[in-house]
Amino acid sequence: MRHFGLIGRTLGHSFSAKFFNSKFAAEQIDADYLLFELESIDELPKLLATMPLEGFNVTIPYKQSIMRYLDEITPEAREVGAVNCVEFSDGKLIGHNTDVRGIEASLHWLDIENCKRALILGTGGASKAVQHILRTQGIEYKCVSRSSERGDITYDELTPEIIAQHTLIINATPVGMHPDVAQAPDISYEHIGPEHRVFDLVYNPANTEFLRRAKERGAMTMGGMLMLQTQAIASWHVWRKAEEHTK
Ligand SMILES: NC(=O)c1ccc[n+]([C@@H]2O[C@H](COP(=O)([O-])OP(=O)(O)OC[C@H]3O[C@@H](n4cnc5c(N)ncnc54)[C@H](OP(=O)(O)O)[C@@H]3O)[C@@H](O)[C@H]2O)c1
Repeated sequence: MRHFGLIGRTLGHSFSAKFFNSKFAAEQIDADYLLFELESIDELPKLLATMPLEGFNVTIPYKQSIMRYLDEITPEAREVGAVNCVEFSDGKLIGHNTDVRGIEASLHWLDIENCKRALILGTGGASKAVQHILRTQGIEYKCVSRSSERGDITYDELTPEIIAQHTLIINATPVGMHPDVAQAPDISYEHIGPEHRVFDLVYNPANTEFLRRAKERGAMTMGGMLMLQTQAIASWHVWRKAEEHTK
């Protein structure tokens, strides 16, 4: 049997485990997808020595610290500064970022052709992946932060004009995530209109308070589930490619 998996600190009810194990069962692939909760990334070499994994995903808080254990990192993952998918190829560990494929798919679905400027809420790892995609698509953006040291602008500095001019708004913070489902990022929703496209990376719940308020103003919205599914499928394509190399 082939083994794949996910490393992170607290994995709880993992979407990826359900997704991959259902896929393997449905397609009669003799494989499983296992969860590995690591207290520290330093436990990785021991895990890899004892568990013959063909590929694995990486989640919070190891998407950056994993990089020092890898033999190669794709230029894209290096530019984003985070790895969420690792393949074994010719005895080497190669790091990829497949979150970016999920962001691309979500923005494609949102039909952002007329959006020239964007606001990205949050300055963490997910925000960096969004920034990379907006740069490649030539969309000007500002990162909104609680601290003037981290972002381009703080929530207090967001004027009605700024909200109106930035017709793409992306939540890359955990605000509104289960169990705090009544919370929404601190922006003035009354300046959002039908020309806005609003993307929430949060996937649990599917319909966040952020999206509900934006929809109420006529905006087109997208939740985080498509991104989650797309990065999983993109990871599978990476691992299948590795399999073809070894044939
Ligand atoms: N759908 C998917 O496939 C997918 C993939 C990756 C991540 N995500 C989601 O994206 C979100 C962000 O992920 P991440 O890894 O970047 O998380 P993170 O590093 O923990 O946080 C992202 C940023 O959010 C801001 N933030 C944190 N707590 C906040 C609060 N209480 N109020 C306002 N801002 C706050 C911070 O920016 P400032 O300190 O600068 O304000 C922080 O840097 C999470 O909800 C995660 O589940 C979804």
